[in-house]
Amino acid sequence: MTIYGFSSRTMLFSISIILFQLVRITIAQPDFSGFFCSQSGNYSSNSTYQANLNRLLSSLSSNTEIDYGFYNFSSGEDADKVNAIALCRGDVTLDKCHSCVNDSIYKLTQTCPYQKEAIGWYDYCMLRYSDRAIFGTVETGSIAYLWNPTNASNMIEFNQALGNLLNNLQTEAASGTSLRKFATGDTSVASYQRVFALVQCTPDLTQVECHNCLVTAIGHIVDYSEGKIGGRVFLPSCNLEWEMYQFYGIPPPQPSTPTTIFSPLPPEGT
Ligand SMILES: *[C@@H]1O[C@H](CO)[C@@H](O)[C@H](O)[C@H]1NC(C)=O
Ligand SMILES: *[C@@H]1O[C@H](CO)[C@@H](O)[C@H](O)[C@H]1NC(C)=O
Ligand SMILES: *[C@@H]1O[C@H](CO)[C@@H](O)[C@H](O)[C@H]1NC(C)=O
Ligand SMILES: *[C@@H]1O[C@H](CO)[C@@H](O)[C@H](O)[C@H]1NC(C)=O
Ligand SMILES: *[C@@H]1O[C@H](CO)[C@@H](O)[C@H](O)[C@H]1NC(C)=O
Repeated sequence: MTIYGFSSRTMLFSISIILFQLVRITIAQPDFSGFFCSQSGNYSSNSTYQANLNRLLSSLSSNTEIDYGFYNFSSGEDADKVNAIALCRGDVTLDKCHSCVNDSIYKLTQTCPYQKEAIGWYDYCMLRYSDRAIFGTVETGSIAYLWNPTNASNMIEFNQALGNLLNNLQTEAASGTSLRKFATGDTSVASYQRVFALVQCTPDLTQVECHNCLVTAIGHIVDYSEGKIGGRVFLPSCNLEWEMYQFYGIPPPQPSTPTTIFSPLPPEGT
């Protein structure tokens, strides 16, 4: 928006070039918002673990059956078993979800080339894999943060409004289904501003586990980014974001069970 404030054409032109370069770089190889390569164990080139991981990740990227943005797959046996979870933000379309998961697969195996366990967070999705059991368990150990350095002008009201909003969203998300635990909403700050927020858990968590994860994530705001006008907290099992503008869309309708939606209806009268 501020671009239109410049009167010089040259200035506008160079800004477009910079924007164009940024967009090009982003398309070629987007960077994670946060990532974590575990040092707890490595696999070697051409190992069974690597073959299992590759098979698992390619089954993830080629999956066309799951349409609710959560993938929990494993591949292999015993010590060579790999478990993977991919979670798309609850409001993104299936196309965006697929391409984000694809980007993550490429980027994560490149960023953590021999680690048995790794996590990468993008705006629209998260990918993690491990040789440990990771399904249906809360993990809050690895953390990534991003925040806008600008302080809210009225910190006390802002913190109070954001705290209440996140608390309500946390309750709503935790009571979601086993296919989606996601909530968005907004509230007024001191009657003339609004704050918008999003929270999400991996839907394999129970209501209590999702609640606990989000309470931990909300607690981390105090450590780093209290009073900031925008920020994100990423944990392996849940994440949250807040901004002073509406950054999320309307989530696509949640399928109750894929089978009832996709199986053809029996002919009348049978
Ligand atoms: C795994 O490899 C990394 C370097 O790539 C090294 O720092 C780390 O100590 C290794 N971990 C184990 C358990 O061997
Ligand atoms: C892995 O396999 C490829 C092709 O099969 C081979 O070229 C490469 O040398 C092998 N690497 C290791 C470390 O064994
Ligand atoms: C994901 O990557 C696979 C192969 O790497 C490709 O076939 C597929 O079209 C990609 N999907 C998206 C949505 O980009
Ligand atoms: C934001 O507020 C904190 C105190 O809460 C202060 O230490 C910091 O300097 C402020 N940052 C800016 C950019 O004003
Ligand atoms: C994968 O996730 C779905 C949806 O939350 C759940 O019903 C299923 O039990 C999970 N599978 C495993 C192996 O944990």
